[in-house]
Amino acid sequence: MPNALDVSYIKKDFPILHTKMNGKPLVYLDSAATSQKPKQVIDAIDTYYKEYNANIHRGVYKIAEKATAEYTESKIKVGKLVGVGSIEELIYTRNTTESINLVSLSWGDQNIRKGDHILISEMEHHSNIVPWQILAKKKGAILDYIKLNDDQCELSYESLEKELAKKPKIVAITHASNVLGSINDVKKITRLAKKNGAVVLIDGAQSVPHMPVNIREIGCDFFAFSGHKMLAPTGIGVLYGRKELLSEMQPLFGGGDMIRTVEFQSYTPNDLPWKFEAGTSNIEGGIGLGAAVDYLNKIGMGRIREHEKKVTKYALEKLDGIKNVKTFGCGQDEIEKRGGVVSFSIKGVHPHDVATIFDSDGIAIRAGHHCAMPLVTGVLKEGALSRISFYMYNDESDVDKAVSAIDKVKKTFRMS
Ligand SMILES: Cc1ncc(COP(=O)(O)O)c(C=O)c1O
Repeated sequence: MPNALDVSYIKKDFPILHTKMNGKPLVYLDSAATSQKPKQVIDAIDTYYKEYNANIHRGVYKIAEKATAEYTESKIKVGKLVGVGSIEELIYTRNTTESINLVSLSWGDQNIRKGDHILISEMEHHSNIVPWQILAKKKGAILDYIKLNDDQCELSYESLEKELAKKPKIVAITHASNVLGSINDVKKITRLAKKNGAVVLIDGAQSVPHMPVNIREIGCDFFAFSGHKMLAPTGIGVLYGRKELLSEMQPLFGGGDMIRTVEFQSYTPNDLPWKFEAGTSNIEGGIGLGAAVDYLNKIGMGRIREHEKKVTKYALEKLDGIKNVKTFGCGQDEIEKRGGVVSFSIKGVHPHDVATIFDSDGIAIRAGHHCAMPLVTGVLKEGALSRISFYMYNDESDVDKAVSAIDKVKKTFRMS
């Protein structure tokens, strides 16, 4: 059992957590949308601009070499964090969304034909739905969905087996749901999908920031995640792709950096991963992501996971005990199956009103369909939901503040 996190110590590293919102100390409960940034990350970006700002992969002068080295080093760090030994298989994108689109637009365009099946699940974020809808429409392919179990906690293996019998060309599944918090057994799903001949993509936007992840152990072909949800700046994301597949794939964008040679009528592509990174890269983003990985390693992914489990269990115990409040996803006794995301509804009160009242108390939460409309409206049959989500800098006292805010909502709406 890893030793517990000292949240008050961690909080000192996050300047924004010492500010006020609406005159109240900020309580940030929206890390599933984006995480806050520690000063170590902010400083790394600041130092880059102040001391060695230059373009990468071009200049032979000292600061350009340093910028190139730091950017490349960040990929090595990211690879180590997620169990990938070679940076050839790690492409920097803008975010998870772009990573998934890169696969659908390049691999999908080359490999999906009329009548082929594409398999996703009812639990997906729009980022892992719409790219496949676009591809299916373009190619005349069929988009199928793995259903949720009746308990609306996990994916149904019965449904998975049924869909795999249709021999989908690709199975694209989220590792952790941003609405239910559910953590899918992606290793098992990958094994079953591959047994049926499918290529597998995992959306790790909500897993990599919060728990130990080893892509090689999972065994998937593609894996996507975003820097901004794991302490890094916005505008930097990651796509892992298995080398054999990336080597066969056409680059999505043409331009500088992605080429080895260019003639009047043709070009030869650069080596992996640069073949997929056209134009000047998000250098500050890469350097910031490297610093974010350093910070995550310092705290320890195992400790972060244990801490979030504890806070999430506490939140479920509290919220489930409040009359007219309903939480979604796996129960308190199945905490192993969930990440630090708790969606809830308050009977008869619109989530936007809930979030507005929380805001007046300095508490930032998310309200809406959480970019997962098929799940929220189609499966859970809710117009919208309120959501609190945790990171290493939250503890039980933040949950207590959320509980007080729920009390305030109920008083405002004269509820029992
Ligand atoms: C599960 C999941 N997938 C994908 C995304 C998209 O991430 P981004 O907006 O960084 O591309 C999110 C963002 O909330 C998410 O929660």
